[in-house]
Parts: sequence; C-alpha cells; structure tokens
Amino acid sequence: MSTTITVIPGDGIGPEVTSATVEILQASGADLDYDEQLGGVTALEQVGTPLPDETLDSIRRTRVALKGPLTTPSGSGFRSINVALRKEFDLYSNVRPARTIVPGGRYEDIDLVLIRENTEGLYVGVEHYIGMGDDPRAAAESVMIVTRHGTERVVRYAFEYARTHDRRKVTVAHKANILKYTQGLILDVAKEVATDYPDIEFEDRIIDATAMLLVLDPYRLDVLVMENMFGDILSDLMAGLVGGLGFAPAGNIGTDAAMFEAVHGSAPDIAGKGIANPTGLLLSACMMLDHVGDMETAARIRKAVDTVVRRGDVRTADMGGDASTKEYTRAVIKALF
Ligand code: NAI
Ligand code: MG
Repeated sequence: MSTTITVIPGDGIGPEVTSATVEILQASGADLDYDEQLGGVTALEQVGTPLPDETLDSIRRTRVALKGPLTTPSGSGFRSINVALRKEFDLYSNVRPARTIVPGGRYEDIDLVLIRENTEGLYVGVEHYIGMGDDPRAAAESVMIVTRHGTERVVRYAFEYARTHDRRKVTVAHKANILKYTQGLILDVAKEVATDYPDIEFEDRIIDATAMLLVLDPYRLDVLVMENMFGDILSDLMAGLVGGLGFAPAGNIGTDAAMFEAVHGSAPDIAGKGIANPTGLLLSACMMLDHVGDMETAARIRKAVDTVVRRGDVRTADMGGDASTKEYTRAVIKALF
C-alpha cells in the first residue's frame, strides 16, 4: 500500500530542490503519493496566509511532510512558519545526521547523529528584563524549562533510533555538574530510560567536553541526545565537521506527525537560477523513507548520491562544479540503476 506524504515546496530555491527530490523519489520506485501544499511567502502571495489551513489539514491526514525552505522575514512580518509547524504538531525530536559525503575534508568517514530536544529548554522564550533605578534593562532573566515527560520522550526516541538504525551507542550530553536541577533531571531521566535498552551502549558526557571531543576524535561518538540550545549549537558544529550545511538533512519527529527538511534556507541569492544543490532535501527525503519503513529505497538513493558526488564529474556550484540542478538530478537517477 502506498504512503501519501504532504509536500510543501516552499520559497526561494524550495520549488527547484523539491521538484528535483520528487523526481528522484519517483525514479527510485518509492511507493509514495504526493499531496502538494502551499507554505511560506509563496502561500502568503497566493492565498493570503503563510500557513493555510489546507496545509495543516493535509499534514494531519498524512502525518508525514517533506518541506522545502520557507523564507522568514526578519524584523517585522509573520513569525517563523517552521517554528509554528513544530509547535502545531509537537515535533519534539530534531534529528540531524552528519555524514561525510565529499571526501577530502577535515575528517574522513564521519557518521554521527544528533537528536535535539525541540520544545523545551531556554528556547521556550520565558524571558524578562529587571529594572533598577532609571535603567529598565539593568538585568535580564531567562527560564530553562525541563520536564520529565519532555526528556523521557526524546531520550527514548534516541534509543529507538539507535536500535532501528543499527547504532551501537547513545551519549547524553548535559551540564548536570553546574545546573543540578534542570540538567540533573535530564541526566537522571536519561539513565532511567537507558535501562530499557541493554542492547545499546549508554554514556553521559559534560556538554563542553563533548564539544571538544567532537573536534578531537569524533569517531568515539555515535548517537548524541541533548536539550534544545546545546543541540542547536552542536548540530551546526557537526555539520561543519562534514563540510557545512549544503548536504545537511533534518527530521522533526513527533508522536502524531513528522516533517523532513534540509537544514539550509531559501537561498534567495540563487533562487530561480536552476543551480541549487538538492542534496540536503534529498537526504531528508531518505530519512523520511526510513521513517515510513522503506529503508531499502533510502539506502539506494544515498548510495546513488555518494556515487555521483564522489565521482565528481557532475557537481553543483556549491560543490565546486558547474552542473545545473537538473543535470545533477539526472546523474543521481542514472546512478540508481
Ligand atoms: P540560506 O541557507 O538560505 O543561504 C546561505 C547561503 O548558502 C547562500 O549563499 C545560499 O545561496 C547558499 N545555499 C543554501 N542552500 C543551498 C543549496 N541547496 N544549494 C546551493 N547553495 C545553497 O540561509 P539565509 O540566507 O540565512 O536564509 C535565507 C532565508 O531562508 C531566510 O528567510 C531564512 O529565514 C530562511 N531559512 C529557512 C529555513 C527553513 O525553512 N528550515 C532554514 C534556514 C533559513
Ligand atoms: Mg540553529
């Protein structure tokens, strides 16, 4: 039985990388039906709202979305639709794999996965100023929210992910030595959850030491799980280990829905030129295939991407080549067979 997914091409280079990705998915034989929906500035221009009800209804139905980048106006204008979608569907785990594709970088054969808590921590935005004397902003306070429920589900997801993806170890990175209540709760809950997974090695590490280890000897880590802000920072560090954001995929996973997207944005500087690299979204689509249970097709597409990129004759401009999005797409499709 085929799986229906919601497809949101989005803004800027979004439609270009989305059509490339869908073309490759179709060629791969993945058993999917595509329900295309609007989102972002494109939706605002066409139907007067950046997040139409039809789009939300579609995700409620399909429970799986593949999303292109959405432009967020800075300063004034509407708030981030990406954040709105994460909130609406309570997408509590942000999964960011970092895997070497282009050889010859700082490290060879990096293969790490960071799972970031996506709904709690300091990013809940509970902040205020404290006035003193005639200075209304003499100080500022921000509250870090950690719940047992929120921690348990993300740590459990990390272990389930390790199991289903043949991973050997889960590391929880924390700062429980200093923040004894908030981070201490995370550490305690992680240790409890770990007892349910005797088949997976478990360790805890202090966050700053983890950052150093990632740079000195990343091969000693495997799956990492941590709270929101730590995860935000270290996931970009990990993307740097494998050559930047161009190839970075991401999944936002909730209990009732999941949304897969490239880490990069709408790249307005190259939009419409037909030169965008679709790999980030394509690898996100592979995560989506894993999620819906088609690991085999996901592996085939990843292998085709590796073949084309390593061969090196058909690369987009950001990879140092001069191929168009379409030429690269055709090369990946050819490498599937
Ligand atoms: P960006 O990632 O769009 O672009 C940064 C640089 O990387 C640009 O030079 C761009 O040309 C290049 N680049 C990005 N993706 C590429 C690709 N697939 N192929 C080739 N080159 C690529 O980041 P920027 O400029 O900070 O943000 C632009 C817009 O995207 C903003 O409105 C921002 O809010 C939004 N954004 C949306 C995200 C999402 O929907 N998840 C994530 C990040 C940014
Ligand atoms: Mg970030």
